[in-house]
Amino acid sequence: MLPGLIDCHTHPVFAKPRLIDFEKRIAGASYEEIAEAGGGIRSSQAGVREASRNMLADKVSFAFRAMLRHGTTTVEAKSGYGLSLEAEVKSLEAIREAAKYWPSTVKPTLLAAHVVPQEYKDRPDDYVRLICEEIIPLVAKRKLAEYVDVFCERGAFTVEQAERIFTAARQHGLDTRAHVCQFTPSRLSGLLAHQAASLDHMDCVADGDLRSLASSDTVAVLLPGANYFLGHKEFPDARRLIEAGIAVALATDYNPGTSPTVSMPIVISLACTHMNMTPAEAIAASTINAACALRVQTQKGSIEPGKDADLAVFDVADYREIAYWFAWNRCAEMVVGGELQGFSKD
Ligand code: NIG
Ligand code: FE
Repeated sequence: MLPGLIDCHTHPVFAKPRLIDFEKRIAGASYEEIAEAGGGIRSSQAGVREASRNMLADKVSFAFRAMLRHGTTTVEAKSGYGLSLEAEVKSLEAIREAAKYWPSTVKPTLLAAHVVPQEYKDRPDDYVRLICEEIIPLVAKRKLAEYVDVFCERGAFTVEQAERIFTAARQHGLDTRAHVCQFTPSRLSGLLAHQAASLDHMDCVADGDLRSLASSDTVAVLLPGANYFLGHKEFPDARRLIEAGIAVALATDYNPGTSPTVSMPIVISLACTHMNMTPAEAIAASTINAACALRVQTQKGSIEPGKDADLAVFDVADYREIAYWFAWNRCAEMVVGGELQGFSKD
């Protein structure tokens, strides 16, 4: 029995899988080349803008139920494929609706700054202004999200733009997190200065940032499902971060472009086989450290008196088997808030 797993980074609000991108990558195109040619995040935008809130909520519910069957009892869920005030609000409403019908805990995040939408292509700062001056205030007022996330990357947003968005988020009482150093390196000091709850991906962190990251309360969330699904040979260097004293968490990054999995046990397995984390480290990274990444460690992430009784029971004789039986779901029972959940094991 483990504490319920915590998936601290997911993008569940999308309408369709991205099979064209998938086949283009198989034929040799890179994620960035596909995005530049109009695929990628922008190609999920039309589906979300056209979909009704209820249709999106059904998709989110379907993913949440599957996560629970794989041992996840707390999930962070981002918007980020609507890319307009209306469609980002609708995405967060879909998360809220799905959360009503899921017994476990959902932590919603506004990711309007996922990519600059086509209509703002030549004036990205106007889109940043829309996020800061309209989307964040409305989302905060309606309590639709607890965090604001930004994708800091070539072709998405700069660290300077992220800092403007973080400033607005904090003015409205929202915590911050960022996608950073996934494909190209960025310096982290600006983001750390805003006390981001987590910095996620972290495939290429500069040596000069290790010390300040280690001494901060910011957790590095590693997402090996994305490296696996993009066919990358390289994975985030977990050992380097752990040895520098940085708190490392793991998550699925469930999304239609780079990581269409709901399985934390697969992520735990990848962390062991491709990132040289021990099974014990990978489990800690998926429970207590992931709780810290969501700042819920006083309630979640370990089995202790006073914390929520969220538990995952695995059909194994040794905890290391959770990492060992890859792509074989051994989660047998779930307990959420002290209540046994009925689900058929598939
Ligand atoms: O975490 N990197 C940015 N966001 C997602 C990918 C989103 C997509 O391609 O749809 C990620 O990998
Ligand atoms: Fe992501």
